[in-house]
Amino acid sequence: MANLTINGKKIEIDVEPDTPLLWAIRENIGLTGTKYGCGIAQCGACTVHVDGVAMRSCGMLVSEADGKAITTIEGLAADGKLHKVQQAWIDHDVPQCGYCQTGMIMAVAALLKDTPKPTDEEINEAITNICRCGTFAQVREAIHAVANA
Ligand code: FES
Ligand code: FES
Repeated sequence: MANLTINGKKIEIDVEPDTPLLWAIRENIGLTGTKYGCGIAQCGACTVHVDGVAMRSCGMLVSEADGKAITTIEGLAADGKLHKVQQAWIDHDVPQCGYCQTGMIMAVAALLKDTPKPTDEEINEAITNICRCGTFAQVREAIHAVANA
């Protein structure tokens, strides 16, 4: 059994401790906004926040997440209001197919929490998510828009 706190809710699930957190989130809990891309912690599609830090959930075991506060894309908006990064994504037409974008948004939200006005270099270092549609320029534009709002 594992005790996870996801988007503020405590959830007990019956899984092996070495189950990847991504599997538990999608298959056991049914929150499918977090995506499976590479499965080897390279692409960032599965990014969630664990105690406020952006983590690639395919590379984290359920046992490592036990007792920690996990936020998925479904829990990013608060009080019926989109997170400022979600709003910027709409305002700047960032997504194309959308597959990578939940992970991208979670990574950017974590970056801006710690570094509200990131330089291009800081963005390059922190946002290493892969987007097959090539939305990198729009992502950067939206990050700067949030930073300068
Ligand atoms: S699916 Fe986790 S980093 Fe690609
Ligand atoms: S928007 Fe299609 S993979 Fe990023």
